[in-house]
Amino acid sequence: MQLLDDHVVLILGGGSGLGLGVARHCLGEGAHVAIMEVSADKLVDLKAEFGEEVLLVHGDVTSIEDLEATRTAVLDRWGRLDALIGAQGIFDGNIPLKDVPLDRIESLFDEVFHIDVLGYILAARVFVGDLEQSHGAIVLTSSTAAYAADGGGLFYTAAKGAVRSIVNQLAFEFAPRVRVNGVAPSGIANSQLRGPAALGLEGNKQSDIPKEAFLEQFLSLTLMPTLPTPEEYGPLFAYLASRHNTTMTGQTIVADQGLFNRAVISNGTVDRVGQ
Ligand SMILES: NC(=O)c1ccc[n+]([C@@H]2O[C@H](COP(=O)([O-])OP(=O)(O)OC[C@H]3O[C@@H](n4cnc5c(N)ncnc54)[C@H](O)[C@@H]3O)[C@@H](O)[C@H]2O)c1
Repeated sequence: MQLLDDHVVLILGGGSGLGLGVARHCLGEGAHVAIMEVSADKLVDLKAEFGEEVLLVHGDVTSIEDLEATRTAVLDRWGRLDALIGAQGIFDGNIPLKDVPLDRIESLFDEVFHIDVLGYILAARVFVGDLEQSHGAIVLTSSTAAYAADGGGLFYTAAKGAVRSIVNQLAFEFAPRVRVNGVAPSGIANSQLRGPAALGLEGNKQSDIPKEAFLEQFLSLTLMPTLPTPEEYGPLFAYLASRHNTTMTGQTIVADQGLFNRAVISNGTVDRVGQ
């Protein structure tokens, strides 16, 4: 008996990083997995890895038409949906507001909020009826950026705060049949989180940052000695997506490697690597 036996799980933005790691974990826990992904290139890689085992749908979370086509594909194959996991996202480039050209603010806001916020709202609306039927679950991805400054720029931070509030509100609206929870990771190894086209940064990826520098900065702030892989977040998402979660709704789990448990008196890097 596995955690996700007989569960149909749809992951939005599962082409790389967190969503892909969660997809792998859910498969390992016995789930039927579908992935909706906007990048055609990533879908080629997914096809090579999963073959026919995973239902792959090319689509954009900001498009109602694409979400409905995804719904049709899932229902055609399995006849139901048990869990919707939102893992899509883009970054805002981490530019201080004062340095964002005034005439770019609206397009930057629209781009980040369409993918990082509206995409979660539209998906919840499109799939809620199916999830009510299955007494299913929604799991959305927030970030530690929703809880403290400097996890991104203003636009990313505000979007991730919105996801946290969406979890609260939808848990209330969809109760008791659908449980809605979130996960707020701190750092994710192998993330390809891209920057915004509104600032010409769509070619920049988190994975471009030299690994050592990123790791050093991350470990200087957290209590646990590793930058988690996407797969390490899998158990949290899988549990919240499963029928075994009979105790939580409206919560966002802060999976922060101890980041927030610091009062920062000893301001230096604590050497925990290898411990
Ligand atoms: N990277 C981090 O350190 C970090 C930390 C906390 C939270 N997060 C969040 O985790 C989630 C996953 O990010 P990641 O770091 O794994 O990055 P990622 O870029 O590797 O994964 C995000 C995926 O979403 C897809 N996507 C983007 N726009 C889409 C759209 N319109 N429709 C469908 N798919 C779309 C991307 O192509 C990509 O495959 C995001 O919500 C991100 O904000 C990331």
